[in-house]
Amino acid sequence: MSICYLDGTYQPLAEARISPMDRGFLFGDGAYEVIPVYSRRPFRLDQHIERLGHTLAAIRLPNPHDAAGWAAIIAEIIARNPWVDQSIYLHVSRGPDDKRNHAFPAQMRPTVFLTSEALVTTPAAQLAKGVAAVSAADFRWLRCDLKTTALLANCLLRQVAVDCGCAETVLFRDGFLTEGAASNIFVVRDGVLLAPPKSHLMLPGITYDVVLELAARHALPHVVREILEDEVRSADELWMTSSTKEVLAITALDERPVGSGEPGPMGRQMYAWYQDFKTTVMRGG
Ligand code: PDD
Repeated sequence: MSICYLDGTYQPLAEARISPMDRGFLFGDGAYEVIPVYSRRPFRLDQHIERLGHTLAAIRLPNPHDAAGWAAIIAEIIARNPWVDQSIYLHVSRGPDDKRNHAFPAQMRPTVFLTSEALVTTPAAQLAKGVAAVSAADFRWLRCDLKTTALLANCLLRQVAVDCGCAETVLFRDGFLTEGAASNIFVVRDGVLLAPPKSHLMLPGITYDVVLELAARHALPHVVREILEDEVRSADELWMTSSTKEVLAITALDERPVGSGEPGPMGRQMYAWYQDFKTTVMRGG
């Protein structure tokens, strides 16, 4: 049984209750983070808490905890749940109001909810084969840099992939790559790793940062720049990255093979560096 945290109390997830008047429920009015935990250590916690602070400030929701407060709750959730590797979901909504009203309540009582599940990383067979993706027009709003709980557009876009047996939807806006429905996308062309620049059109991924740091550390040629749709369609390699998928090769896009149709050498190398980096972090390095 999973133990969650809801507004100051640790309790079984199945018993947790919130008001139907919560603005998180009515308006998708909230912020969230997904934090991977390896060997009971949260990965890149400071960066996740910093990004949460960025989202909360932008949506004008006072941060209910400082970094130490968040770290304490997360440590407790990790300790109270059975898995060694976990995926922590952290959610802050603008809380309940007496009546439905678009404008913020005069007295804000944010709802803070954290839960955990076993972190299931990609099975070896899928890593060896890579995954298939489809593409779609990115019709989301112009603040995709914010990790808000209003994810209907992302859900609709991810479902496009699921409906045709694919793992992810690669998004293009005005002829340029933005990201995936729930991941960032990297492109390899002619031995160079390409990443779209952070902007209001994509989420600044924590895994994205780690990948670029590893590229720099290992002197892997890499360029952060806008990437044309055509460059994606004729790429040698495509990868999706996220806290739960880590670094995963996309080997088919819209039913056409990406490069050789198998995970490429640079992706395999980055995956190995990523695993090695995780192990270092778990050792406290
Ligand atoms: N999603 N872009 C989008 C739209 C995302 O939803 C995510 C992650 C990412 C990758 O970010 P990070 O590397 O920090 O996980 C990029 C999480 C995992 C989710 O919503 O479940």
